[in-house]
Amino acid sequence: MKKILVIHGPNLNLLGKRETNIYGTSDLKTINSEISKKAKSLKISVEFLQSNHEGDIVEAIGGAVKKYDALVINPAAYTHTSVAIRDAISAIRIPVVEVHLSNIYAREEFRQKSLISPAAKGSICGFGLHSYLLGIEAAAASLKR
Ligand code: DQA
Repeated sequence: MKKILVIHGPNLNLLGKRETNIYGTSDLKTINSEISKKAKSLKISVEFLQSNHEGDIVEAIGGAVKKYDALVINPAAYTHTSVAIRDAISAIRIPVVEVHLSNIYAREEFRQKSLISPAAKGSICGFGLHSYLLGIEAAAASLKR
């Protein structure tokens, strides 16, 4: 069975309480359980990591190559700042799908640039919780090819 790691970046542990007008009312547990259901329907196994620490995310990306077939990542605020996360993604050969709950291109100017997108296989943003589900489908489709 193919395995996908889903990485949630900083402050996503606060989902459901945090700026619900932007990020919705589902908490991370609910989002992860919806992701698990989607993965099960695609006969893919999924694991999760949430971290508020850039270095932990860099290490998880580097370590993923041995254990997983693809990555789905919401780098959250690091999207707009982290050369280290971008380089970690560029360094691995498994497909990486970038996801965001909100449409970062319709928000503040500083969010309209993703340092991660050029290193990812593709990006999905603006569909709330469904961005993750579409991300899982996209990762699964990349594995079939
Ligand atoms: C986010 C968008 C980022 O700009 C923000 O810093 C987040 C969440 C999203 O999922 O919409 O924390 O990645």
